[in-house]
Amino acid sequence: MKSFLSVRDLGPTEMRALVEEASRMRDVIADGGNVEKALAGKSVANLFFETSTRTRLSFDLAAQYLGANVITFNPETASTAKGESLRDTVMTVASMGADVLVVRHREDGVPRAVSEWTGVPVVNAGDGTSEHPTQALVDVVTMQRHFGELDGIRLGVVGDISHSRVAGSLVGAVVPLGVEVTLIAPNHWLPLTPNVRTSDDLDSVIAELDIVYLLRVQTERGGEIRDEYIERFQLDRHRLARLGEKTIVMHPGPINRGVELSDDVADSPRSHILEQVRNGVPSRMAVLRALVSA
Ligand code: NCD
Repeated sequence: MKSFLSVRDLGPTEMRALVEEASRMRDVIADGGNVEKALAGKSVANLFFETSTRTRLSFDLAAQYLGANVITFNPETASTAKGESLRDTVMTVASMGADVLVVRHREDGVPRAVSEWTGVPVVNAGDGTSEHPTQALVDVVTMQRHFGELDGIRLGVVGDISHSRVAGSLVGAVVPLGVEVTLIAPNHWLPLTPNVRTSDDLDSVIAELDIVYLLRVQTERGGEIRDEYIERFQLDRHRLARLGEKTIVMHPGPINRGVELSDDVADSPRSHILEQVRNGVPSRMAVLRALVSA
């Protein structure tokens, strides 16, 4: 793997290999075992031009577990604030000898542009409304650790789908694994995705789902929170009571309590939201390892 820019660049075999490696790393960390320092002597640069908590910190920790030197760029305190262009900033960091660049940006396509400018392996840590491939890996790892085989599992993705890079990558990652996807949202948030089932009525499909995957309303990209949305799509305790016995609730975070989910759902044993966070570090370790051993 030269760079990890889109889940669509991977075949199912490569995706399965990353999932297995991430799951193995998760167990090694949980057992307090020794992690092989596969990135010893290498440097990882985190270039986050947009806010992040989970993704940035988990890349940071993942690189440290693997023995890498880590540098983290903060646009507010860097020379971008003095007018330096994106390309000049990126070329500067690459010239310091970074072996992997982890890039998040509000515009679609920036991670791919960075890989072309620098020739350095790049991980897309979220670009615009386009892709967030390592979140999809985290999600597949979480689903597989809960359900084992994913073929035939029924996944409902609920909320602001049209502005969500998480949804874009998730659908691209799970469809080849045999997951049956339903996109559930008000009509104005339902993209025209061929071969994927859609519904604008959560209540009519909720009882058939194995996974309810909630999305944050992306207000910074034009998503608007309306009372009608909360009434018809919020996962609250009444809807939670209608879920199947093994059904789980997922969300990439950050969650907005009282919007896409209620407090009692966020804190319920059905919620695998913190389990997704736990799988974040080992998943990013698997990606970093695959890039340096390519
Ligand atoms: C998401 C993101 O930034 O794309 N969060 C994440 O990385 N876990 C989703 C979001 O912000 O809603």
